[in-house]
Amino acid sequence: MTREKPKNLWLSRWGFILAATGSAVGLGNIWKFPYITGEYGGGAFVLMYLACILAIGIPVMMTEIAIGRRGRGSPIDAIGRVVRESSGNPLWKAVGGMAMLAGFMILCFYVVVAGWAFAYTWKMLDGSLAATSVDTLGQVFSQHNANPWQLGGWSVLVSLLTLAIVAKGVQQGIENAVRWMMPGLAVMLLVLVGYAFTSGGFSAGFDFLFSFDASKITGEALLAALGHAFFTLSLASGAILTYGSYIPDGQSIARTTFVVALCDTSVALLAGLAIFPIIFANGMSPGAGPGLIFMSLPLAFQQMPFGTAFGVLFFAMVSIAALTSAISMIEATVAYLNEKHGISRMKSAVLAGGVLLVISLLAMLSFNLMAGWTPLGKNLFDWLDYLTSRWMMPLGGIFLVCLAGYALRDEIMRDELGLPPLGYALWLFMVRYVSPVLIMVVFLHALGWLGFDPVTEWYWIVGAIGLLTVLGEVLRPRVLPVLAGR
Ligand code: TRP
Repeated sequence: MTREKPKNLWLSRWGFILAATGSAVGLGNIWKFPYITGEYGGGAFVLMYLACILAIGIPVMMTEIAIGRRGRGSPIDAIGRVVRESSGNPLWKAVGGMAMLAGFMILCFYVVVAGWAFAYTWKMLDGSLAATSVDTLGQVFSQHNANPWQLGGWSVLVSLLTLAIVAKGVQQGIENAVRWMMPGLAVMLLVLVGYAFTSGGFSAGFDFLFSFDASKITGEALLAALGHAFFTLSLASGAILTYGSYIPDGQSIARTTFVVALCDTSVALLAGLAIFPIIFANGMSPGAGPGLIFMSLPLAFQQMPFGTAFGVLFFAMVSIAALTSAISMIEATVAYLNEKHGISRMKSAVLAGGVLLVISLLAMLSFNLMAGWTPLGKNLFDWLDYLTSRWMMPLGGIFLVCLAGYALRDEIMRDELGLPPLGYALWLFMVRYVSPVLIMVVFLHALGWLGFDPVTEWYWIVGAIGLLTVLGEVLRPRVLPVLAGR
């Protein structure tokens, strides 16, 4: 069987790394990671998170990239091709469809959140954040959300920027944009860490993030670390798979994945080192939750020398991080329309953008005019978040690793990953037996259906992995060929 020829490729070796890091680095890194790290106990949480990145983040990311590159296309088409090459069931394409849909649905509420960052860059400049207390800033935030024109205007702006970049194509649009945005983001982050270093709160911030306390290793924290590892790498939402389909043959998938995961983790840690010292230097609480960067931080900037300039820099950085994530969320859909239906990239972007604008504006109205519309107890914004993060991403992740571990012909992944035998065996062990069990644990817990504590009752997990390994290695060679009709 001849392999599909790529229609698009990254121009440089760094193209994929920059674009995938852009996808991975987002609000999850700059806001959520520092905050949950603080909440779950600093250093202990950081260690658990690193273990989760290694145990599921990296194997799943390698899987997505390899399927993308082998199948050379949008999630549906790429999965369709690798499955056909393995004489498997074409129904697997539904996994690609679900991932693509998840990416699109995340985008519909992500543009609203990204709009906050853009709006705050502006507010930092025009003086609307000149408040004297966190409460006043809380009011500024709720007034911003109560006004549909303001909230909607900023989210439309983010949507249009996203579409303009994606419409121009993989090299001219996406690669061109991330080529200057990612280094820009890195510089801004380092400048902000430098500023935090001189704020007087640096050692308090450092201790908060890194002091290790073994008693903080709890089931709750482990589950949060697992869930976050998945979210922060943008897995199971079509983004990484589609970006992976543009990687030239011969570039090492394993090495590339490590670089992306390392950059993503570094940004998360550095963001914590930029934010917490400033919070501590001003005697504020690190556990302020969702309001941390929109309420506490602006006030802290106001009380510090050159605060306005650094505040603008901070929110501009968050905006860029959100924008580079947004472009990756819609790329799968645009690539699909472009390839499957022969619609030009420009028209595909307009089409997908039209749907995006309608749904995202409805999600935006959840904060004001439609706040009372809560079918089955959640507004549209919360539904989009709930369905994607609780259901579609975990299930998509499990299906993806099972596809790679069980349904595909051995040579496909062996060829694409190009690992030494031991590395390949380790990857296979992870995707066949470890990742499905761990993702299932997070999935069940998020739904409230996990009947045990994963830290104190760890033997359930080890037992499940062991049982699956035995079943897989003993029974699979007999059963699978029958199921596959081989
Ligand atoms: N990784 C992004 C962040 O940390 C969020 C995200 C989740 C995402 N799924 C995605 C981004 C899919 C792009 C595509 O903020």
